[in-house]
Amino acid sequence: MMLLNQILFGVYPYIALVVLALGSVIRFDREQYTWRTGSSQLLRRRQLVTGSILFHLGILVIFGGHFVGLLTPIWVFEAMGVSHGAKQVLAMTAGGVAGVMCMAGALLLLHRRLFDPRIRATSSFGDTAILIILTLQLALGLATIPVSAQHLDGHEMVKFMNWAQGIFTFNPDAAGFVADVHPIFKAHLALGMTILLVFPFTRLVHMLSAPIWYLNRRGWQLVRTRRSLPLPPHPVLPTTIIQARRPEAAE
Ligand code: HEM
Repeated sequence: MMLLNQILFGVYPYIALVVLALGSVIRFDREQYTWRTGSSQLLRRRQLVTGSILFHLGILVIFGGHFVGLLTPIWVFEAMGVSHGAKQVLAMTAGGVAGVMCMAGALLLLHRRLFDPRIRATSSFGDTAILIILTLQLALGLATIPVSAQHLDGHEMVKFMNWAQGIFTFNPDAAGFVADVHPIFKAHLALGMTILLVFPFTRLVHMLSAPIWYLNRRGWQLVRTRRSLPLPPHPVLPTTIIQARRPEAAE
C-alpha cells in the first residue's frame, strides 16, 4: 500500500509534469497549426456561449485558487495572520461556488458536444474525452467539500500544501503527507495529475496562448466570409500606411 502511495503521489507527479512541459514545447515547435481549440461556434452558437462563459469563469477561479492555495508557502499565510481554518473555509466556499458554476457550464458544453450530431461528428476523440475528464474532476472536487467540512481547522489542507510544495522542492518524502487522506482526495489528486499528463495532447493547450497571444493580439484569427465583393478599405488602416510599407505599390 505504501509503495502504491509512493508511486502515485511521489513518482507520478514528476512523470505528469515532465510530459506536460516537454509535450507542450514539442507540440508548439512542430505543430503550431494544431495549437487551437478547434472552435465549433460556426456549427451551433446556442448553448456554447452560456456554457462556455460559466465553465471558463468557474475554472479560472478554481485554477487561481488551487495555484495560490497549494503553492503559497505555509509561512506566508501565517505571517499574514490567515489561519488554516479560515483558509479551509475560503477554499470550500469560493471553490464551491466556482465549482458549481463550472459544473453547470461543463454539463451544457458536454450535452452540446454529445447530442448535437454535427458537433459530435466534427469532435476529435480528445475534444470529448477531455471534457468528460474535466467534468469528472469537478465532481470529485465538489465531493471533497463535505469531507473537508469534517475538519474545519484546516489540518488536512496543510497536508495537501506540504505535498504539493514537497513535489516542487524535490522532497523525497512528499507522498507521505497524503498517505492517510480520504480516498476522494486521492482520486482527485490522481485524476488532476492525469489532466496535466494529457494536457499537451488536447485542446487545453489554448490556455497557454490565452495570456501570451490573445491579449496581446499577436495571434491570427482566420475568418471565412460569405461576401462575394472585396471588403471596403479598413477605417483604421489607411491605404497610405500599407503603401508606406510597400513602396512598389504606392506608384
Ligand atoms: C493537479 C491538479 C489538481 C490538484 C492537485 C487538486 C487538488 C485539490 C485539493 C487538495 C482540494 C481540496 C482543497 C481543500 O478544501 O482542502 C481540491 C478541491 C477542489 N478541486 Fe482540485 N485539484 C486539481 C485539479 C482540479 C481541476 C482541474 C478542477 C476542476 C475541473 C478541480 C476542482 C476542484 C474543486 C471544485 C474543489 C472543491 C472546492 C475547493 O476546495 O476549492 N481541481 N483540489
